[in-house]
Amino acid sequence: MSKAILDCKDLSKSYAHEGIQNHVLKHIDLEIRQGEFTVIMGPSGSGKSTLLYCISGMESCSGGSVYLHGDDITKFNENRLSDIRLQNFGFVFQQIHLVSNLSLLENIVIPGLSRKSGSNKEVYAKADSLLQTFLLEEAKNRLPSQVSGGEQQRAAIARALINQPDIIFADEPTGALNQNNSTIVLDLFTRLNQEGQTIVMVTHDRRAALRGGRIIYLLDGRIHGELTLAPYDEDMLKSRETQVNAWLESLSW
Ligand SMILES: Nc1ncnc2c1ncn2[C@@H]1O[C@H](COP(=O)(O)OP(=O)(O)OP(=O)(O)O)[C@@H](O)[C@H]1O
Ligand SMILES: [Mg+2]
Repeated sequence: MSKAILDCKDLSKSYAHEGIQNHVLKHIDLEIRQGEFTVIMGPSGSGKSTLLYCISGMESCSGGSVYLHGDDITKFNENRLSDIRLQNFGFVFQQIHLVSNLSLLENIVIPGLSRKSGSNKEVYAKADSLLQTFLLEEAKNRLPSQVSGGEQQRAAIARALINQPDIIFADEPTGALNQNNSTIVLDLFTRLNQEGQTIVMVTHDRRAALRGGRIIYLLDGRIHGELTLAPYDEDMLKSRETQVNAWLESLSW
């Protein structure tokens, strides 16, 4: 079994509103291992995004621990956390937050140039290889407003990969894309994972969930079920779909 990159123990998160505590995450134990493609599903409001943000150091936790390579990042101050987010993690969201007055290439290299280690030359070499993989070479000097939504999301994924993160965290990465662009993005995720990239992805979309190697089902802030899948194989898609649908139905999805 591959080693754990991230280990969450008894994680909880509450929000206080008008004196009332809303317990959004309750006693979550979750391990993310090297090379896994973990999908988080569950009804709207079940805490999926909150879980993603808590385990990636974007949100503070109310209780419990999140160990990254053995260090509890819930104890880190904001400076250390922002270093972790920059160097160890990559983020992809439904809303594509590219900087509007910078070209795709400039957007992609920003996190690389912000790093304390490595040369700028290496960053541009990595960006070149990502642009090739993501079929963005022709569009690289255009502004986000001058390319399609699919190209924007591919650039956002390339940006998330520029620092060769331990984990890519994606929250509904296909949520704003049409079917064709969704498939392109999911194919990229599958390929990245097959090359060893660890991914944690929140999604509502069953087609997207099929790409995962394991699916975690969140209900009312707790892990309600977990399904482990065989490695993704397009030729076996139908049986994979049947398996996932039956499992989701057993959870009353
Ligand atoms: N900043 C906040 N302050 C107060 N409550 C919040 C905050 N963020 C989220 N919540 C609440 O926490 C619960 C879980 O929210 P979360 O966004 O994690 O759900 P989700 O499963 O991602 O839902 P969706 O599928 O709609 O994106 C919801 O009840 C939400 O209203
Ligand atoms: Mg959400």
